[in-house]
Amino acid sequence: MLIAGNWKMNGDPSSMDEFGRMIARAPEATARGVDLIVCPPAILIAKFVDRATVSKIGIGGQDCHAEPKGAHTGDISAEMLAACGATAVIVGHSERRTDHGETDEMVGKKALAAQRAGLTAIVCVGETEAERDAGEAEAVVGRQLAGSLPEGLDPARLVVAYEPVWAIGTGRTPSLDDIAAMHAFIRATLTARFPETPVQILYGGSVKPSNAAEILAVENVDGALVGGASLKADDYLGIALAA
Ligand code: 13P
Repeated sequence: MLIAGNWKMNGDPSSMDEFGRMIARAPEATARGVDLIVCPPAILIAKFVDRATVSKIGIGGQDCHAEPKGAHTGDISAEMLAACGATAVIVGHSERRTDHGETDEMVGKKALAAQRAGLTAIVCVGETEAERDAGEAEAVVGRQLAGSLPEGLDPARLVVAYEPVWAIGTGRTPSLDDIAAMHAFIRATLTARFPETPVQILYGGSVKPSNAAEILAVENVDGALVGGASLKADDYLGIALAA
């Protein structure tokens, strides 16, 4: 199981206290075989890495540029994240696909860049509500998987996160049957693509301590990508301990 926390655009140096509480409680989760990765905003990555050296919490980025360096104002490369001590990076989050027009092709290049730098690539996919209502959820996710996972990716350093867009930050989640059906579809797609190596599949979207146990018990759910509830140590660890 992997419980990854995506802090999104939240946090500043005063967040070190809350992160300290996560570090203090992390061994409760890791002792049960649950891996923890926290992805703070980029300005805090190096600080979190320094603080996390005594704990088992991995630190990740929320995005990376496809190129290793150069004239790309405001962007951060996978190599820069790795040099600061990050071990993973989220790519293709629906908020980046929407806010920054990221296409499957761009996401695929970022995933390759992440692995080139030695990071685990956490690739996000998920349908909108209109797409689900139209019965197109699997077709959309299938297309995203095909387009966002280019040739040359190493399945051993790949995680796929299924995040239905309509469940993000809304308090709404798919039924457990719908989560099971989509995760089975993603599993079948990934197994056909990478027959030798199982790829971890996370569910994301309104995961909280009160629904984590039932969601994490669904077949083919290997963990969670948590947004809002990853900002507080009690909620984040509550989810990790439900795994
Ligand atoms: P919430 O947990 O806040 O719904 O966000 C999910 C998410 O987008 C994680 O990447």
